[in-house]
Amino acid sequence: MSKINDNVEKGALLYEGKAKKVFLTSDPGLVIIHYKDDATAFNGVKKGTITDKGKVNNRMTALIFTRLEREGIPTHLVRQLNEREQLCRKVEIVLLEVIGRNVVAGSASKRLGLPEGSEIDEPIYEICYKNDALGDPLINDSHALALKLATREELAQIYAYTDRINRILQKIFLDCGLRLIDFKFEFGRTVDGEIVLADEISPDTCRLWDSETNEKLDKDRFRRDLGGVESAYLEVIRRIEAELGSDNA
Ligand code: TMP
Repeated sequence: MSKINDNVEKGALLYEGKAKKVFLTSDPGLVIIHYKDDATAFNGVKKGTITDKGKVNNRMTALIFTRLEREGIPTHLVRQLNEREQLCRKVEIVLLEVIGRNVVAGSASKRLGLPEGSEIDEPIYEICYKNDALGDPLINDSHALALKLATREELAQIYAYTDRINRILQKIFLDCGLRLIDFKFEFGRTVDGEIVLADEISPDTCRLWDSETNEKLDKDRFRRDLGGVESAYLEVIRRIEAELGSDNA
């Protein structure tokens, strides 16, 4: 075990996902999340590496979660530890991927037959069953209840948080010259049964377009082989750091 600080010591690897590793700590209520440079798309079919992505996504998530906490949204973040790691509350991940869309893009463009970039008057919220073997299928609330993925009360809380977070993030990103086109959130349950925002908010999990040029500054550059992947991630963190860096995440 290597010593972190405040007497929390890093323990064994608990879980390794596509983009992150989760380590146990000497405190049973806390984990350390390590952000990797590994990138996948299309449910792991396309694989690659984005240099320094782990550093960008760790820092961006820490900055944004810190701001959200300040705005009254509970998250799993305790604090950023170093360039690639953050200390988080250990939560049980709710097996839902919650997607919000402010502008039509990606799979919604295909499903709805609308060109990418089509404006919508109200955000669209979708839920997917977080299950890699099934390819994270789109479901509705009655599926989520029938499969016991969440209770009715938890679903209501998750939708309410998602809408509030979307509105806070749209403003933060716009102040950075970025349009929040769409995003994916994940939530966790604490030991006390509280719903908190978990996972990450980064160019891996949000579509971010430059507000002047509509240039794509997110993982679509990797998914679609557009080039300039690393520089897009660096440009996003440069702008977010300038906007939120004084918050002391
Ligand atoms: P989609 O248009 O492909 O459904 O993606 C919607 C948003 O969700 C987009 O911002 C990218 C994000 N996303 C993830 O974070 N993980 C995923 O596995 C997928 C498919 C999308």
